[in-house]
Amino acid sequence: MLLYLHNANQLITVSGHSDSPARKEQMQDLKMIENGSLLISDGIIFDLGTDEELRKKYPDLIENAEKINARNKIITPGLIEPHTHLVYAGSRENEYVMRLKGNSYMDIMNAGGGIHATTRATQRASFQQLYKETKSRLDTFLKQGVTTVEIKSGYGLTLEHELKQLNVSKKLNEDHPIDIVSTFMGAHAIPTNYKNNPDDFVEIVVEEMIPTVAELGLAEFNDVFCEKGVFTPEQSRLILEAGKRYGLSPKIHADEIEPYGGAEIAAEVGAISADHLLKASETGIKKMVESNVIGVLLPGTAFFLMAEFAPARKMIDSGLPIALSTDSNPGSSPTLSLQFIMNLGCLKMGMTPEEVLTATTINAAHAIDRAKEIGSLEPGKKADIVIFDVPNYLYLSYQYGMNHVDTVIKNGIPVVK
Ligand code: NIG
Ligand code: FE
Repeated sequence: MLLYLHNANQLITVSGHSDSPARKEQMQDLKMIENGSLLISDGIIFDLGTDEELRKKYPDLIENAEKINARNKIITPGLIEPHTHLVYAGSRENEYVMRLKGNSYMDIMNAGGGIHATTRATQRASFQQLYKETKSRLDTFLKQGVTTVEIKSGYGLTLEHELKQLNVSKKLNEDHPIDIVSTFMGAHAIPTNYKNNPDDFVEIVVEEMIPTVAELGLAEFNDVFCEKGVFTPEQSRLILEAGKRYGLSPKIHADEIEPYGGAEIAAEVGAISADHLLKASETGIKKMVESNVIGVLLPGTAFFLMAEFAPARKMIDSGLPIALSTDSNPGSSPTLSLQFIMNLGCLKMGMTPEEVLTATTINAAHAIDRAKEIGSLEPGKKADIVIFDVPNYLYLSYQYGMNHVDTVIKNGIPVVK
């Protein structure tokens, strides 16, 4: 099947960074073609250029192609979410009200709420219920231009329920147009019944859960919530090293609420990404730069927890490649709008619109090890593409709290029109 998208005001290719994530000035140097067109064949990008160039090169192919006119609009790579907790049941609006009254996120969790509340609801929920609720969240993501989503487990906290969550992701990856990348996060919280012997739970994660998840091929990454009162840096190291032995690539929730050496652990274990980093130390950031760890920043969480935002400007200037994501979850970031995260990236973290687009496309692809296939518009890559109904890309981070999507193309097929 041939599809020809033509005459976009700006065809934002974000090209040139498939081998390694964009850093520093590279994040600012957004590649684009004015009055750009793009020819897709069987779900893969065949070629791109101006309308004039392509019509001269491929008159017959274009004649026979289905065509979409993108005049006065822009085209970008499909947006990528490298950090979500999308498979869950229940909601936590009651905790939101408690936090508005001054209770802290951690106090609520330590009192048995927070992640524990969602774990109870998720354990009670059937596979079918989780499937249905997660599918509707994916539908919303797709309508807003997201074509690949990483999903973590971590609301099961027993082998049985972690596998249930991971199997929901697996089935949705088969059934839903969005591609799902799966992360095991059994170490998301110390279950309340292990409060006094957390090391015993770490042992279960290491000895039982990781080997089973790996053997069943249910995850590609292994994540841990390294935070004061949750998993210590030492426990995090153990869990991430265990994952590596079973072929699970490490990720880490690092320095979200308090400085705790999470960024340093990420560098030490060779994590593909360290996420949150609101309170990461300067040494930790430096070590991440040296060890090629990507910083995945989640400004929606800082916004919703009313916390200080991660110092993205400083991080980019010091050479750290940055990706952005929603962290979508019912407690600390109940949003499905990556476009709003783009606004926050600029308004609250000092990023430029160019950096924000790089961070939600090619750098996000790198953070989930998919940069060879997606994240930029280049010949040979998957035709995961968004047409936004805006005259130029600045609008994506300028007009806020809106969905600018016109058309979403997944694997060369228009799935949202
Ligand atoms: O990334 N910090 C740990 N995990 C999630 C929150 C999960 C929840 O509160 O349910 C996060 O913020
Ligand atoms: Fe998270």
